[in-house]
Amino acid sequence: MRTITVELGERSYPIMIKSGLLSEVGARMKDLGFKGKAAVVTNPLVGDLYAGELLKSLKGSGFSPFLITLPDGEEYKTIEVATTVYDALIENTMERNSPIIALGGGVIGDLTGFVAATYLRGVPYIQVPTTLLSQVDSSVGGKTAVNHPRGKNLIGAFYQPRAVFIDPDVLKTLDAREVRAGLAEVIKYGIIRDPAFFAFLEENSSKLLGLGAELTRAIERSCEIKAEVVGADETEQGLRSILNLGHTFGHAIEALSGYGTYKHGEAVAIGMYLAARLSAALGLCDSGVVERVKGLVSSVGLPTEPPEFAVEAWIESMRLDKKVSSEAMRFVLIKRIGTVSLEVVGEEELKALYAGL
Ligand SMILES: NC(=O)c1ccc[n+]([C@@H]2O[C@H](COP(=O)([O-])OP(=O)(O)OC[C@H]3O[C@@H](n4cnc5c(N)ncnc54)[C@H](O)[C@@H]3O)[C@@H](O)[C@H]2O)c1
Repeated sequence: MRTITVELGERSYPIMIKSGLLSEVGARMKDLGFKGKAAVVTNPLVGDLYAGELLKSLKGSGFSPFLITLPDGEEYKTIEVATTVYDALIENTMERNSPIIALGGGVIGDLTGFVAATYLRGVPYIQVPTTLLSQVDSSVGGKTAVNHPRGKNLIGAFYQPRAVFIDPDVLKTLDAREVRAGLAEVIKYGIIRDPAFFAFLEENSSKLLGLGAELTRAIERSCEIKAEVVGADETEQGLRSILNLGHTFGHAIEALSGYGTYKHGEAVAIGMYLAARLSAALGLCDSGVVERVKGLVSSVGLPTEPPEFAVEAWIESMRLDKKVSSEAMRFVLIKRIGTVSLEVVGEEELKALYAGL
């Protein structure tokens, strides 16, 4: 088993990665000092596949678990659905030390984390992520949230889990499109922090979708990089913003094309390519970097070409995302594979990028 620690002083926590780990969650939680009642939050799809095994593991280690099943989908990541979780926790007299376990993708993880941050002013929670995106990104780092009708993730808190248990075997039931979308974030880690990892992904791009040892290695390295960045800058005062590479472009693509048209990872893939193009146009990197980003993103079956939007709508959407009204916006741009920086970019430069597409 691979264990990575997110170093946050007293709030440090382990990320454990191992094939078959789902059936050991109970024992591992007992080792961490938990006991008694445990709530498992999931959705019908993931619950049917994996709740049985998780509950068995918990019972086997002396826990008294119960299941809270929420409807599946981003549209249910709301305060109203969170309220139904509070109801279930109160009904089952969950106390301050009773852990809540998120079994699912980023939607379940974000909502469960938000509930844990607020129920009884904060109770422990455990992440058992079941999508590639949640295994390499959303389960680590403590960003918890629900959506508001006016925008995604507007209501939330930084609140770290007590442990993250990653079982790569559960990805076998995940839609291939979801696996590819998760790979966008994996590629992101190589670009922002680790040229050798990027080269590893290039060499093994055809094997990653096979969900074998190469993907497990990629999950491990992604979690290491995320843990390192979060440990250095938990609340995104500086360094953590590098994790947003491609995301400003990506969020605009998601918003302008209507949420759901592109998966988040697909929009981020296009966004990373655009960030590379912009970086080269501004003289920060050479065209070889753009070619490598495009090559790797395409080779795992992710898109690079953006849909057509009016340039004004495009820029307005990015401004909204950045919550800035002034002329300049800051983007994570690429200096070379493994090194990025936050740069101020003017509207003219964005228009020039758009005109050249
Ligand atoms: N907190 C963070 O730092 C952070 C970072 C990135 C994204 N997010 C959030 O994550 C969410 C997206 O997460 P996601 O991409 O995991 O989507 P998701 O949670 O909606 O899961 C995608 C689909 O896969 C299904 N699924 C999950 N695991 C499965 C499995 N093992 N087998 C078969 N089907 C399975 C789900 O039921 C769902 O239908 C968004 O709400 C986004 O805002 C949060």
